[in-house]
Amino acid sequence: MSENGFAVEMRAITKVFPGVKALDDVSIQVRPGSVHALMGENGAGKSTLMKCLFGIYEPDEGQIVLGGRPVAFAGARQALDAGIAMIHQELHPIPFMSVAENIWLGRYPTRNFGLFKLVNKAKMLRDTRKLFEDLRMEIDPKTWVQNLSVSKIQSMEIAKAVSYNAKVIIMDEPTSSLTENEVKHLFGIIRKLRSEGIAILYISHKMEEILEISDEVTIMRDGRRVGTYPAKELTTDLIINRMVGRDLVHRFPPRENVPGEVVMQVEGLTSTNPRSFRDVSFDLRRGEILGLGGLVGAQRTELVEAIFGLRGIKSGEIRIGGKRVAIQNAIQAKRHKIALLTEDRRTTGIFPVLSVLDNTLIANISTYIGRLLLLDRRRGEGDVRRSVEMLRVKTPSAATLIQSLSGGNQQKVIFARWLLTEPEILILDEPTRGIDVGAKYEIYTIIADLAKRGKSVIMISSEMPELLGMSDRIMVMCEGRATGILDGKAATQERIMELATQFMS
Ligand SMILES: Nc1ncnc2c1ncn2[C@@H]1O[C@H](COP(=O)(O)OP(=O)(O)OP(=O)(O)O)[C@@H](O)[C@H]1O
Ligand SMILES: [Mg+2]
Repeated sequence: MSENGFAVEMRAITKVFPGVKALDDVSIQVRPGSVHALMGENGAGKSTLMKCLFGIYEPDEGQIVLGGRPVAFAGARQALDAGIAMIHQELHPIPFMSVAENIWLGRYPTRNFGLFKLVNKAKMLRDTRKLFEDLRMEIDPKTWVQNLSVSKIQSMEIAKAVSYNAKVIIMDEPTSSLTENEVKHLFGIIRKLRSEGIAILYISHKMEEILEISDEVTIMRDGRRVGTYPAKELTTDLIINRMVGRDLVHRFPPRENVPGEVVMQVEGLTSTNPRSFRDVSFDLRRGEILGLGGLVGAQRTELVEAIFGLRGIKSGEIRIGGKRVAIQNAIQAKRHKIALLTEDRRTTGIFPVLSVLDNTLIANISTYIGRLLLLDRRRGEGDVRRSVEMLRVKTPSAATLIQSLSGGNQQKVIFARWLLTEPEILILDEPTRGIDVGAKYEIYTIIADLAKRGKSVIMISSEMPELLGMSDRIMVMCEGRATGILDGKAATQERIMELATQFMS
């Protein structure tokens, strides 16, 4: 530890990308044995600041002091060696490797075999089991990562960060896909690490989490530090005010949609996978927002993916406009004017090396193909510009590669993409995951407006306030079955929880 007592100090950091000053003279000081939160709107510079600390980006100006000593890392490897670990906002595990291999990647334990060094698989498995045991996580070290749910992958990444025995751990939105119980569990781990003197840098858009777990909060806006405050002195309203520079009076827009006739009926839908959903029935009305509540693992994503044609259906039926349909793939789903915004934008959502423009247009490319099969780029560009403005996507231009946008802004681009396809039935899987409060309101406004214009929306959400604030009706699922459908106005958090845990012991 340094003389001044800080585990890490970042002094006057500035970082410029083409067209954006991502960080402007930002300083933070983090004590050992404390949780220091970073908050700010999408694109405020939180991830960039942490990537500078972790050696992924080289700051243009400023200094990083670790345990009292100035450091300059030429890559994440050096940062890890110096005792800094990071859980990234955008997870990219290697799908065709086991959990154990992903965790120890680049540092496999070896044993000597004559002149050679071989990977000591037995030890690797033992170490992984021990790690999960210490953290009380239930993941099989031998499973291929591609078979894990997003929430399990997130847990695995947390375990991986802990396994480096780092003195400083950066967590960039570690709970974006975790269930309430998993979040509680993570907080247990964080408290334990904190009591061992580890400094934790914690990024999240969830106010309640921040107020619960952090000791200090640094708020950022447009690449600058607004201030650093003891968490005890903050409230949700104060944070929002300092983040966006004004008060947000309402969290949800007024809704003027009037649900009409039934547009889709789902009856006795059962998955080909015996461990997934079964016997699910509901109907969806024109201009209705149907919330889909439940805990992670309730099979909500699987259900909507099956409706969209991405998963097998063993029995039951789906009727659209009274006619039975057999949707077998996304193209057929689109033909029936169904759109699906997926929960995991990295693997199914974005094309990282394409521009914002192309990512927005891609779902809708056929609309923009003129009579001579010429892509009507100008018309496309106009639409994209409008959606970028409507959703306030923070990007230097539509030609910017989507991978260089902040996480929340990538999400908005995907949203814009589906809006341009003009669907009649819009299925949203955790639509505001990773999105800041201000932008959330914008997305809610768009959803409310779509419903008012007669579009039907199915919205999966694990955030209670969002379910309650936005839904006309809420269907709750537990372990693959629909346990109840509640009227949005009469529903309460308690009632939803009851239904969400109905079959659990
Ligand atoms: N590699 C990059 N190339 C170009 N611009 C970038 C790059 N990385 C980030 N930016 C830009 O820097 C700014 C800050 O982005 P950053 O990812 O740090 O935001 P954030 O606060 O983490 O937002 P979010 O809450 O959405 O994750 C944004 O305007 C973003 O577009
Ligand atoms: Mg970020």
